[in-house]
Amino acid sequence: MTFSTPFYPGAEVALACDDVNFCAIASILRQETGIILPPGNNSLVVSRLIKHLRKLKISSFREYVSWVEDPANELDRAKMISSLTTNTTHFFREEYHFDYLAEHVINDLKRIAGVGGRVRLWSAGCSSGEEVYSLAATLLYHWPEIVLADVRILATDISIDALAAAKEARYSREKLASVPAAIRSLMLQDASPSDDTVTMPDAIRKLVSVRYLNFMEPWPTKGPFHVIMCRNVAIYMDDVVQEHIFTGLFDQLAPEGVLFIGHSERLPSELSKKVVLVDRTTFRRV
Ligand SMILES: C[S@@+](CC[C@H](N)C(=O)[O-])C[C@H]1O[C@@H](n2cnc3c(N)ncnc32)[C@H](O)[C@@H]1O
Repeated sequence: MTFSTPFYPGAEVALACDDVNFCAIASILRQETGIILPPGNNSLVVSRLIKHLRKLKISSFREYVSWVEDPANELDRAKMISSLTTNTTHFFREEYHFDYLAEHVINDLKRIAGVGGRVRLWSAGCSSGEEVYSLAATLLYHWPEIVLADVRILATDISIDALAAAKEARYSREKLASVPAAIRSLMLQDASPSDDTVTMPDAIRKLVSVRYLNFMEPWPTKGPFHVIMCRNVAIYMDDVVQEHIFTGLFDQLAPEGVLFIGHSERLPSELSKKVVLVDRTTFRRV
């Protein structure tokens, strides 16, 4: 695919990403994030990155690759990576995980907090935040006294755009359609009926810390976590990276802690022996 793009008044430049430059970009992505970009996705690369070439006034992918390979242009490399991540998500995605949490986990968390313990949860690969706010709102709905307990939910991602959206915590009203009615009322408590967008109320936001974390770099996390959600992240990685991520998450899980993974993901076989499958793609550490 080629794009005819005016870079400056009067300039028309045809842009294509040939296989050499595609491979260079895919290789940076694999090295820095673990994400595999299968061959043949040249047009996806063009459509996601063209805005950066325009902004930098760079007129070819060959020049762009040299630019992002230069260590001095770290921020532009991060922007490239952010644009190449797939951030698809929605509130209460794979809702059965939130049902399991409400029915089988929240009482355990209350017990821990009840004797003065700290409770920690983690949405790992949180994208624009819908997952972590679904988690926080479920907790708050079933446990209104949570505000008095030592409970924190960590939300991490690699995409700078997704992290900015998660921090802002503002969503179009239509996005809340997938939220169960009772919990939706909680999310809407500060919104007026005429608002097209809804900002998550303070009571929900206060439970959440949004941070950058790349699974391919050292993890600055301090476990143990009682609940970890890492869903629809590892599907984009090869087996070696998947094993690295799931083993790392398992190591941070508290005894009897719960790990939720995506509907089409599976744990490496070594790890399967150390957890019990308690529900659909839901595991408890033994
Ligand atoms: C498809 S979204 C999943 C969002 C959410 N967990 C859900 O299931 O709805 C995958 C997320 O993983 C993030 N991601 C990809 N590679 C990553 C890495 N190496 N470290 C941390 N996050 C990564 C992406 O930026 C993206 O936001």
